[in-house]
Amino acid sequence: MILVTGGAGYVGSLLVHELLAQGHRVRVVDRFWFGDPFSPHQRLELIDGDIREFSDAWLDDVHSVIHLAGLSNDPTADFAPDLNSESNVLATRIIAEATARHAASVGKEVRFLLASTCSVYYSPASTDELNVRMMTELLPVAPTANYSKTKRMAELEVLRVADRTPEFCPVILRKGTIFGASPRMRFDLVVNTFTLHAWRKGEVTVHGHGEAWRPLLHIRDAVDAYAHLLWVPSDSVRGVTFNLVHKNYRVLELAHWVSEVLQERGADIKVRRDRSMTNGSRSYYVNGDKITERLGFRADRGTRESILEIWDQLERGEYGTEPENNPHYFNIAWLKQTLISETGEGIRKEVVV
Ligand SMILES: NC(=O)c1ccc[n+]([C@@H]2O[C@H](COP(=O)([O-])OP(=O)(O)OC[C@H]3O[C@@H](n4cnc5c(N)ncnc54)[C@H](O)[C@@H]3O)[C@@H](O)[C@H]2O)c1
Repeated sequence: MILVTGGAGYVGSLLVHELLAQGHRVRVVDRFWFGDPFSPHQRLELIDGDIREFSDAWLDDVHSVIHLAGLSNDPTADFAPDLNSESNVLATRIIAEATARHAASVGKEVRFLLASTCSVYYSPASTDELNVRMMTELLPVAPTANYSKTKRMAELEVLRVADRTPEFCPVILRKGTIFGASPRMRFDLVVNTFTLHAWRKGEVTVHGHGEAWRPLLHIRDAVDAYAHLLWVPSDSVRGVTFNLVHKNYRVLELAHWVSEVLQERGADIKVRRDRSMTNGSRSYYVNGDKITERLGFRADRGTRESILEIWDQLERGEYGTEPENNPHYFNIAWLKQTLISETGEGIRKEVVV
């Protein structure tokens, strides 16, 4: 049995379908914030639960854990910093410790794949410096943003647990910014956002200078990497951190690329620069060679087919008539709406807007 936390999310929903297709038994623990993307399946168990209240029973019969649940971008982490720390750090520690106890009690290795992010490489620095540094797993990281700081802390938590329990086998996967279609779609990720804007407005807007770098990754390569990491020998991965990136793009270059690709659909998409808003210096260029050199895994898939696929889905109305106004596709819009409407004044105090 493979336990997938956050298995109903953007990455998780596609990953769970793939694990089932490969014949595995899968248990999903999720709060189903964005709905339930699954049809009933005899090898799939769904638990509507909160990882902050993790139950050891969720580990019954489990040989591998893929830990995806939590807040998954900067805006949500900044909007709800306490929820971010609880979900991304404290819950990760609790799950890692529970998994280690479970592994020790069954006397067998239990693999623990932690969803980390290339955002840990971003910390404020001069633009010149950011533009010349290629980040590898060997470089020290000191993220300062709420989201990336807690993702880094989560990495340290699982490594600390691994020091004490030999049967606990964590692997850290720092994924680039993902693009592509998923049963639980996100339109708040740069390629998906640009494609939505191109479709809706006939233009893509780049804020600031557009020179910032982003490491990008196809969602299916993310899924394949998790499936691959489940089965490689533990001595080549235990406690190891891997970047997972297809290619780094400058944001402006990416906008032009989306426009160029969509010419294949007969669309004339303008690229607009809005210099009144800056994206700060959030820029990071990440090297993803290690996972290829060590494990032979390569994130090969490019953006072109995803841009066309998402465009065609939008044309067919698969995301409704006004996806740009549907909070389910934008984590921050969804969280703002839900936290404020469900928790009321008392909890709102802990939210810093
Ligand atoms: N999407 C990306 O570009 C990207 C890039 C790098 C890393 N990551 C990481 O990968 C993971 C998955 O990202 P995603 O894009 O699928 O995110 P997502 O927001 O689509 O999915 C997160 C899932 O976790 C669930 N969840 C959140 N808090 C929970 C809690 N306390 N208890 C139980 N369930 C909870 C939500 O209901 C949701 O289904 C995250 O850890 C994210 O930080 C994502």
